[in-house]
Amino acid sequence: MRTEQFVCPYTVYDRIDEMDFRDAELLRHAHEATDAAYAPYSQFHVGAAVRMANGAVVTGCNIENAAYPSGLCAERVALFAAQAKFPDVPVEALAVVAHSETKTLAEPVSPCGACRQVMVEVEQRSKCRLRVLCQGETGPVMAFDGIESLMPFVFQGKLL
Ligand code: THU
Repeated sequence: MRTEQFVCPYTVYDRIDEMDFRDAELLRHAHEATDAAYAPYSQFHVGAAVRMANGAVVTGCNIENAAYPSGLCAERVALFAAQAKFPDVPVEALAVVAHSETKTLAEPVSPCGACRQVMVEVEQRSKCRLRVLCQGETGPVMAFDGIESLMPFVFQGKLL
């Protein structure tokens, strides 16, 4: 028997001007995308922006529904739209941010498990690490270089 550890490396940026310009731009797109969120049930407006290897940026927002599970998170809206528009182009990075109607979020929003599972397959298809940037409405940005830090021991389609 033995106990093992999984290390989850990530970078924290306390200021936007510490970041790479292209990542800062992607975050800006994600913040803009929150304006389109349809979140009458949670008042939690999430924006996501995907940067493709061809330089294109595709955005998404959360879309809720009275039948709750029928809604979709901003990350999956953006990733699925990106794949539909550019099926053969690798995805380089994803930024996700959230604005609440009830408070100022000053800590990073962390993607849900279902979105992480989708990110795993996006990364596999893209054949490059997916950089994931997370922020609240303000405050620090967490950056993950590759989905493994966010989703260790993921279910692997190769087992099927
Ligand atoms: N939501 C996202 O869009 N992304 C996340 O990473 C977490 C949660 C949405 C789903 C729902 O519309 C609202 O936020 C509250 O859960």
